[in-house]
Amino acid sequence: MKKGSTTIVTLTADDRTIQTPDDSSVLSACQSAGIYIPHLCWLETDAPADAPAACRLCFVEIDGFREPVAACAVTVENGMTVHTDTEAVRSLQKTALKLLLSVHRVACKPCPANRACQLQNIAAFLGTGLGCKPFERVLKEPEVDVRHPVLDHYPNRCVLCGICVRICRQQQHQQPRLSFAGRGFDTVVGYFGAEPVAAADCLSCLACLEACPTGALVQRMADDG
Ligand code: SF4
Ligand code: SF4
Ligand code: FES
Repeated sequence: MKKGSTTIVTLTADDRTIQTPDDSSVLSACQSAGIYIPHLCWLETDAPADAPAACRLCFVEIDGFREPVAACAVTVENGMTVHTDTEAVRSLQKTALKLLLSVHRVACKPCPANRACQLQNIAAFLGTGLGCKPFERVLKEPEVDVRHPVLDHYPNRCVLCGICVRICRQQQHQQPRLSFAGRGFDTVVGYFGAEPVAAADCLSCLACLEACPTGALVQRMADDG
């Protein structure tokens, strides 16, 4: 079906019929139909080909696919049948969540994200709690990175979803201010430029802080040094 210049396709997810533009991701289509799929690294503006598929939470099963797939990275097709609530899907999502929690300092009370945290929401949705067993918990040092001129970064609250880095690139700064630094376990969110212009850019924006799904980015108070 054509609607304006967009072709609309029809698919089924959990016995619900969904009509959506043919360039939508499966995740976007399900969300638009009110079917929640856990996710941390997806932005609504993501085309399936651009989705980083980093958090490995948004698994679904699709008829005709041999294995569960990341719903954010798969484009809808006419006649597709998607299952978001199977045993295999939930098992993979729980494992992905526990792996994230295995490198996470769970100390919610003092955390600015408490009660608005996507990790808490996903853990509640999957019924897992915030433990990481059977994985061992390993944390990063230092607990707080204060190298940014106005933002504190808490690596042990960060899920490395990359949303702050991508949101920063979309702003109209003179240059992007955030980036990933380091490799593997030592990867953290880093930044470019400690000069005053960076501080001014960031203070007038703070889009990264708004978009962070956890409490990993915090604006430094003036008297915090
Ligand atoms: S980021 Fe979320 S789960 Fe982690 S300490 Fe903060 S509120 Fe708790
Ligand atoms: S600081 Fe927040 S938005 Fe940035 S990568 Fe970490 S969890 Fe994601
Ligand atoms: S939302 Fe799909 S992998 Fe993160």
